[in-house]
Amino acid sequence: MKVLGIVASHRRLGNTEILVKEALMATERDGAEVEIVRWQNYRILPCEGLATCLFGGVGCKLKDVDDHNNLLEMIYQSDGVVFGAPCYIKEATAVVKQFIDRLFILGSQPSRVRGKPAVIIMPYATRGYTQYAFLQPNILLRQLGMKVIDRALVHTQGMNEAVAHPELLERVCGMGKALVNSIRTGDTTYLGEPGICPICHDRIIRIRKDGETVECGTCGITGKVNIEGGKIKVHFSEEQLDWIHSGRSGHAAYEILPSKDYFRKLRPILREGREKYREYLQIDPEPAESTS
Ligand SMILES: Cc1cc2nc3c(=O)[nH]c(=O)nc-3n(C[C@H](O)[C@H](O)[C@H](O)COP(=O)(O)O)c2cc1C
Repeated sequence: MKVLGIVASHRRLGNTEILVKEALMATERDGAEVEIVRWQNYRILPCEGLATCLFGGVGCKLKDVDDHNNLLEMIYQSDGVVFGAPCYIKEATAVVKQFIDRLFILGSQPSRVRGKPAVIIMPYATRGYTQYAFLQPNILLRQLGMKVIDRALVHTQGMNEAVAHPELLERVCGMGKALVNSIRTGDTTYLGEPGICPICHDRIIRIRKDGETVECGTCGITGKVNIEGGKIKVHFSEEQLDWIHSGRSGHAAYEILPSKDYFRKLRPILREGREKYREYLQIDPEPAESTS
């Protein structure tokens, strides 16, 4: 049984590293083989947006140019993931989003860790300044089809401060134990603090333009808001929940891939129409391939 610890913080021996390592130690005591990686130590280039990974059937163009594919392969070699990222300006660190953008490839090469468990550990410093902390880690693990079985925002600000809080170390240690148990039993029941969305357990609820419908900012499932006993409640329809559970919500398979023929037909019109913009205001320096 292999568990991968991902540290998405640049700080060496910072809180993320300490907390992820504490969780990994617990998994190791329970029999796991462990590995750890710091994403900031690797080169993850921005997605070039050409979508050849989806439509061309040739994989990612940058596959052998940077480390994204190798980092993805590390995840694929694991049975479970301890994902750690600090909260930076209300969200996870930017490297997480950079990694996610390159996951367009999953539309043509499906994830090999579907259904496997993961936990999320996020150190932060300021209460009330963490609104979108779980957003990107949730999106990342959902894109990969992994099941988040537990997650924690861990209040620890100063460099290495986590070591001064035995209760925090105990909390993440428990997450490590739960991860091993989930790998062994296949039970991916969510153990963390309940959220509003029953799928991602997040609390980011958007009000749609109709003024009646709300949606989960992470999963996109829609529902209606009611006030019950003075408390705000969101009811998501069974239909929406079934849609997500059945896996039919695949954005690439149902919305992007079918557009291929449409854009193929449109190509001559687009090629002609774009010429007007080619010579206007040069953007420098411009890599040759991005203008093709
Ligand atoms: C650039 C930067 C931005 C931060 N933004 C936030 C924030 O928005 N909310 C918060 O609660 N903490 C914020 N923090 C504090 C870190 O989340 C916190 O110190 C955390 O323990 C750092 O983990 P690390 O040691 O693994 O890097 C920020 C820290 C830095 C350096």
